[in-house]
Amino acid sequence: MRDLAIVVLAAGQGTRMKSALPKVLHELAGVPILGHVLATASALPASKIAVVLRHEKELIENYVLSHFPQVMVVNQDEIPGTGRAAEQALAALGDFDGDVLILSGDVPLIDVQAINQLLEAHSQSASIGTMVSVVLEDPNGYGRVVRVAGKLHHIVEQKDANLDELSVTEVNAGLYVFDAKSLTSMLAEVDTNNAQSEKYLTDVVGMLLQRGKKVSAQVIADHWLVAGINDRAQLAEVAAELNSRIVRAWQLAGVSIQEPHSTWIDVTVQLGQDVNLLPSTRLHGLTRVGVGSTVGPDTSLRDVEVGQNAKISRTQADSARVLDGATVGPFAFLRPGTELGPNGKIGAFVETKNAKIGAGAKVPHLSYVGDAEIGEGANIGAGTIFANYDGVNKHRTEIGAHARTGSGNVFVAPVTIGAGAYTAAGSTIRRNVEAGALALNPGPQKNLAGWVLDQRPGSASANAASETTE
Ligand code: UD1
Ligand code: CA
Repeated sequence: MRDLAIVVLAAGQGTRMKSALPKVLHELAGVPILGHVLATASALPASKIAVVLRHEKELIENYVLSHFPQVMVVNQDEIPGTGRAAEQALAALGDFDGDVLILSGDVPLIDVQAINQLLEAHSQSASIGTMVSVVLEDPNGYGRVVRVAGKLHHIVEQKDANLDELSVTEVNAGLYVFDAKSLTSMLAEVDTNNAQSEKYLTDVVGMLLQRGKKVSAQVIADHWLVAGINDRAQLAEVAAELNSRIVRAWQLAGVSIQEPHSTWIDVTVQLGQDVNLLPSTRLHGLTRVGVGSTVGPDTSLRDVEVGQNAKISRTQADSARVLDGATVGPFAFLRPGTELGPNGKIGAFVETKNAKIGAGAKVPHLSYVGDAEIGEGANIGAGTIFANYDGVNKHRTEIGAHARTGSGNVFVAPVTIGAGAYTAAGSTIRRNVEAGALALNPGPQKNLAGWVLDQRPGSASANAASETTE
């Protein structure tokens, strides 16, 4: 095996994205475009990986170094073009003797298997360079592969192509392997005399062939593997394709997914066997769903840990934990720091934040639970507000195990309700309640007889009242 180095080109401006965010940091399946490429590169047996940067260098470099510390960052100077980028990477690799694999930072679906096939074909054919091509129904935007009598002749960029060349449907995938030394010496001769005044990497293919060197083209069948992302329409298309592959892989691994096209799963998500995902479910980031749990419909989870046999419907949740057998929703909003214990319940129209809800405890209806700890087996009455904010600071509320709090309570934090205590419906709880007590603070109810007839004479209410009182 020859020594292998990998160069990832990511110094382009990405103008067609029309974005403040650099193109290669736009995400699909929860990972930046460039992250997909670098993850694949990192899975190959390369002695060195270099990524070439220029535009928005700092932002991209931060991402690269924090996620792929083994990757070397190379700067491209003011001379534009993929050829210049490759040339500067080779210079930074020093006196590298071996094969160099060139990947584009904007082609995220390329995988280890396809690259291994390329490396294999390259060494089998004893070529100086091997490029990957693909036949597209719509070759628009790509460099065209020009063949003469069926044999690879050169690559022409779309902007430099004549009408005949434009009709060619075999295009350059932007994925190559070259003998590093031959590539270095050939790149030194590439000029910028073309429509874009750039130093094209693609020029070396024709130049090497002209000098009698062997360069092969390997046609790849699955065009998605080499789909480049230049604008947001392509980003959405490639993201949808990647998602359908992720969904299918989970289906084959034992996850039920009723409606694949409305189910979105980041590459970073983990799912257990017999998980059931209902339509319009989106699972993001480090979300994990345990064996036998059902999520959806209409649910988005980000960085959420779901235990086994839990049920979450019509819910949005972020940085939360839902333990075994718990149920959430419909229409729940779980904010960071929510933890729902085993067999617990967060019901309809409930918002939680920084709230630990114990095993079997329930917050079934129409409540806000913020900065709270609710003991196991406690039940929170419908329409309860944990008033955690005094206008300046946030305070905590503690509810003891097996407490029963009445409907329409307001807990004015900081406040503690003891184990097994009750609170009456409609109470505003400002003072601690000791274990086993009943807290109630009703003002005595006053009914002012005839008030409506006196004060709202002739109104529908007054008429209705007088009909019944007559
Ligand atoms: C390139 C190819 C084209 C091929 C297509 C496949 C060239 C000249 N053209 O075109 O034949 O069909 O990819 O997707 O190579 N980059 C740099 N430095 C630069 C310019 C670009 O590092 O100065 C990087 C970009 O960040 C990008 C990659 O190289 O990741 C490709 O550049 P891009 O401008 O997107 O090239 P295409 O026009 O797509
Ligand atoms: Ca491109």
